[in-house]
Amino acid sequence: MYPIGQSLQEIETPALLLDLDKFEWNIELMFSFARKAGVNVRPHAKTFKAAAICSKLLDVGAIGLMTQKLSEAETLLHAGVLHGEKNILVSQEFADPVKIEKLVGMNVAMGEGKVLTAIENAEEAELLSKAALKWGIKQHVIIEMTQGRCGVPPGKPAVDLAKKVTSLKGLTFRGIYGYEGPVDREIAMQRNKLTVDTANMIRKAGIEVEIVSAGSTGTYHVTGTYPGITEIEPGSFVFGVGPEGTGYGFKTVNDVSFKSSLSVLTQIIGDNFSDRVVTDAGLKAMSSGFDAPRVRVDGELVDCEAVQLSEEHGTVRFAEGSEVRKRLKWGQKIEFIPSHCCTCVNQHDNIFVVKDGKLAAVWPVTTRGKYT
Ligand SMILES: Cc1ncc(COP(=O)(O)O)c(C=O)c1O
Repeated sequence: MYPIGQSLQEIETPALLLDLDKFEWNIELMFSFARKAGVNVRPHAKTFKAAAICSKLLDVGAIGLMTQKLSEAETLLHAGVLHGEKNILVSQEFADPVKIEKLVGMNVAMGEGKVLTAIENAEEAELLSKAALKWGIKQHVIIEMTQGRCGVPPGKPAVDLAKKVTSLKGLTFRGIYGYEGPVDREIAMQRNKLTVDTANMIRKAGIEVEIVSAGSTGTYHVTGTYPGITEIEPGSFVFGVGPEGTGYGFKTVNDVSFKSSLSVLTQIIGDNFSDRVVTDAGLKAMSSGFDAPRVRVDGELVDCEAVQLSEEHGTVRFAEGSEVRKRLKWGQKIEFIPSHCCTCVNQHDNIFVVKDGKLAAVWPVTTRGKYT
């Protein structure tokens, strides 16, 4: 039992905190944009991992969810987050026949088309089709168009794979995705062009392309307004991205302005030296992230020389005579803002939701540790 209503300062540390007002502000920004732009949103649940957040996003209009891993999809299905026509798209490919059987099994249990998957080659398509035929259903697939990781090259290779998919009796071809990453506007436009041109080439070959997906938190407005993109797949936006952190480091990509809603509450347990304080949040509570965390004291970002994380300690270093250091005392609770929200969330069992300085809810991190 958690004491709902207790003050922020009473929460046992280290604790992953979510500022409810900022979180809701971020969601409203993304979904009001999407309504205006006429683009669907399929949030990437690899970021936030909590069934409570999935449900909230589906309730406000997400058409479905993306997960990176099959086990994430499986766990969210068990949590019962999907309703109506909503579905889950697994964005990472499989090379393991056992996983393929599991994926098809989820569709047998939940209904055809409930869990889609991305593919990148003909062998995978054949294995999926065989497994689906065995169970008398069709597995729905999309093709990943590579932007430097998995996937097929844009153009002819993608068209050839789409033809292969449509030739297989156990598969239904739904579309393509070409996640462009947290890149600047120009690169996003170039990558979106490749994705949309490829979708049109597939259509020219006589194959219907329903889903054309791309887009990250940093590019949502560029990609979400790019003609021919039907859905965007951002994840980190719920926790913010920008100079305060929590997305991919501290860059504000394309001037996006989501509010930093995620932090780790940590207590000062070492206060004997004027050049540092030591807190109880180390790598286990923060993950290694992209950079060291930023530090917030009494709701304000503060300057320090460095934050060094070891397994269970966070050492915050200050210049000699620092005014901030003078304000910090043994037992005080401060916040670390992670530079990479997705890996930080994975370190915690629960998200402590805070409103007006008080604990408002505790949301389990439902897909914590789901790597398979
Ligand atoms: C395939 C894919 N789509 C979408 C996202 C979401 O990106 P962001 O968290 O920047 O919104 C990611 C994140 O890594 C991803 O790998």
